[in-house]
Formats: sequence, structure tokens, C-alpha cells
Amino acid sequence: MKLDKYYTGETAKVNLDGKDYELPILIGEEGEKAIDISALRSQSGYITLDYGYMNTGSCASAITYLDGENSVLNYRGYSIDELADKCIFVEVAYLLIHGCLPTEAELANFQDMMRRYALLHEDMVHFFDRFPPGSPPMSILSSMVNSLCVFYPEMVNNPMEKIDKMAARIISKVRTIAAFSYRKAMGHQLVYPRHDYSYCANFLNMMFDSPVEPYEVNPVVVSALNKLLILHGDHEQNCSTSTVRMVGSAHVNLYASISAGISALWGPLHGGANQAVIEMLQRIHRSRGNYRTFIDKAKDPKDPFRLVGFGHRVYKSHDPRCTIIKNACNDVLKALNVKDPLLDIARELEEVALNDDYFKERNLYPNVDFYSGIIYKAIGIPSDMFTVMFAVGRLPGWIAHWKEMRNDKNYRIGRPRQIYVGPTTRRLSPIGARGVCNCENI
Ligand code: CMC
Repeated sequence: MKLDKYYTGETAKVNLDGKDYELPILIGEEGEKAIDISALRSQSGYITLDYGYMNTGSCASAITYLDGENSVLNYRGYSIDELADKCIFVEVAYLLIHGCLPTEAELANFQDMMRRYALLHEDMVHFFDRFPPGSPPMSILSSMVNSLCVFYPEMVNNPMEKIDKMAARIISKVRTIAAFSYRKAMGHQLVYPRHDYSYCANFLNMMFDSPVEPYEVNPVVVSALNKLLILHGDHEQNCSTSTVRMVGSAHVNLYASISAGISALWGPLHGGANQAVIEMLQRIHRSRGNYRTFIDKAKDPKDPFRLVGFGHRVYKSHDPRCTIIKNACNDVLKALNVKDPLLDIARELEEVALNDDYFKERNLYPNVDFYSGIIYKAIGIPSDMFTVMFAVGRLPGWIAHWKEMRNDKNYRIGRPRQIYVGPTTRRLSPIGARGVCNCENI
């Protein structure tokens, strides 16, 4: 990636130990400003300290633009509202990975590859019998994706040449893995993918078709699923994407890098939040809708409870994905004739929180996870699969970032620095002469 044109020629000056250092300034396409500190340590001996990378850019990227102050989210320059309104997930996956929207022929070719790669190697199918009952689906997904390296090694060895095929293969197979893990968990016969179905319809059919009651694919549900997957497609340098880049920076193959990203996504502060939202709404429902107690708990600094589905590291205004999902949620519940009291609770909770000083002062708005679980629940997807759905949607983003990172000549193995605060050099005592450890506060 050529960055020369983004360097302004201006510098930031830092005075350390009485000496001035000039740090080059660069400005991105959308006006984001950065100070390039990459040579600071070699010149001055100083590193920068930034827990959680709150203020650290790890790369330059041309995939997603996010302006959290103004609720802007664009993939490759296209607004998320327009993409969710006018495109299907596979089209947006192509856009994220390739940089441009596909022509009709390119889309047909991409879809065709996905159809051809939809099946799993039968030995992989047997894996599902060996996971203990009740295994978390994210654990199964991460293991199965990692094992793609051994079932399809020919692509692992020439990753950049075969990236298109690898992308189609993994996007297609992850859907099959997700549906199969659900069927196995339910003790149901597996339903194989069908060539005549679209990506989302195929997934729904693999999940819910039954020999005694054929599944009728509802176009409103297909449309909502397309939207959900598109809206989760990418979100620049979040925890799981940074994990995929970090693991991939050691030249680990795409499948293993994505398997690591799936593990990162699993966390309740990241992709696991959509499941936690439904569980929280169910708890509120069980307490007869007493949501004010939960709001008070969330505001209490001594209570670790947080209003899940609220707040975001980057969005300090409303999350643009949330509005689209909230509308899709209304459409799905109406089309399926579902009356879910959790939707009423969610709406009331949102209303109360948005008018509460605690949430207003901290710019806490409902995020992408707040309404998505209610849609999944209405469709029949169990809550322990919600984060799997997030992973299916996020795959194109992970692939795009892995590809961009591997093609970027500036990219080096990820290796942050630290400030060491442990003991200085100590002498080792024989085991019988050691005192009680007093390290617990370190
Ligand atoms: N409920 C109550 N208080 C909150 C919440 C919340 N959901 N989120 C943040 N705060 C408070 C927090 O206690 C802190 O207050 P104070 O300044 O008095 O100490 C202040 O707001 C800033 O919070 P933070 O933890 O410093 O913010 P962060 O950027 O580190 O954390 C977050 C972002 C998403 C982890 C956090 O908002 C959170 O835990 N939300 C709930 C979990 C959730 O919904 N996660 C899904 C995120 S969207 C999906 C994704 O992209 O991964």
C-alpha cells in the first residue's frame, strides 16, 4: 500500500530528555489525522503506551470507513444504508474482498464457486459426532474452520494465488458448518446444501427443513438475514479483525487466522453481546418487566453489570447498523406473526436509557447487537448460535483484512512493546528456603 501521498510534510514535535524529535503527520482520505511514531523508539528510546489501542492505528486500510462521532459506516466507499437496502450479502462479500461491486458475470461466478464448495468433506462431517453434547457452537466453529487447513491444504500453500477460491470456500463452508452444528445439537438429521437456493435461503433451509414438515423459505426472513449479514460484514480494526491480522501477520494461513478471529469474536464484550442481550431481556421479562432496576444496576459504579447492547468503543453517536436492524426486526415479527414481549422491553429500555443523564453523558446508544437477537429468535435460531451468525457475517471482512495485510508491503509481524513493571533481576533460592509469595498484587 503506497502511503506517500498521505504524508503532509508537516511534523509533530516531541521534546524528550531535552532533545527535539519530529514525527511525520499523515492525513487519510476522509481527513483522519495521524502521527507516525514508528521511528520514535529507534531514535529516542521511548515507546508509546496505549492500553486497548484506544489511540493507536495498526495499519492503513482501504476497506471500511467509520466515523463514530457522526454515525457513518461505509464499505469501500458505499454507505451501509445503501448496501443493506439494495444488495445481497454475497455481493457485499465480493465488494469487501475485491474492492469493487461485482458485475453480473463476476457475481454469478462467485455464487457458482460457493455452490460448488458448499459441501463438507465427509470426514469433517463425522467430527460433529465427537463433540460432547452441549458444546458451545463457537468452539465447534473455530475448531472446524481451523481443520479446513488439513482438508484443503492445496490452497494453504499458495494463498495469494488462490485467494478467490479460498474466500468462496470458507464463506460457503462456514454456513454449512453453522447449520450442521445446530442440527447435530438438536439431534436432527443433517440437511445438505442445495444448488438452487441463494446463500441465505440455503442456510435457512439447512437449519430448519424437516422430513415431516418441509421448510418454506420466507422472503422477508431472507431479506432480513441478508441485511444482518451485510451489517456485520466489517467494522475495521475491531478485536476479532485485529486478531485475524495479528495472527496472519506471522504468515499463518487464512483458515487458521480466521479460526483465531472466531475465538476473539466469542467474547461477551465483542460478538458474544448479542446472546447476552437476549439473556438480559429474558431476565427483565422474568422480573415482570422491571427494567428500571437493570438501568439502576448498570449505572451503579460498584455493580459490574452493564446494559448489554449499549455502548461502543467507536460510536459516540447512534450506531447506524442499529436503526436498520430495528426496522428489519419489526418487518420479520410482522411477517411471521410473532408477538415477542422482549421487543417491547427492548423498545422501552432504549427509550428510558436514551433519556437518562448517565447514558447521555457517556454517549451510550444501542449498538448492532441490541435488536439482532430478537430477529434471530423469531426465525428460530437459538441464542447460543447468535454469535455464530455474527461470525458468518463478519467472514468477508476478516478475509478482506487478511488479504489486504498480506498484500501490504509495509506490514510486518505484529509485535507490540510493553513497559515492564515486574521485579528487577532476582537470585533463585533453593525450594526449602523460599518464603511465602507476596506477588498477588502484581
Ligand atoms: N452499560 C452501562 N455503562 C456503560 C456501558 C453499558 N453498556 N458501556 C459503557 N459504560 C460506561 C462505563 O462504565 C464507563 O463509565 P465511567 O466513565 O463512569 O467509568 C463509560 O461508560 C465508558 O465505558 P468504557 O468501558 O470505558 O468504554 P469502552 O469503549 O472501553 O467499552 C464496550 C465499549 C462496548 C465494551 C462497552 O460499552 C460495553 O461493555 N458494552 C456492553 C457490551 C456490548 O454491548 N458489547 C457489544 C459491542 S458492539 C459489537 C462489537 O462491535 O463488538
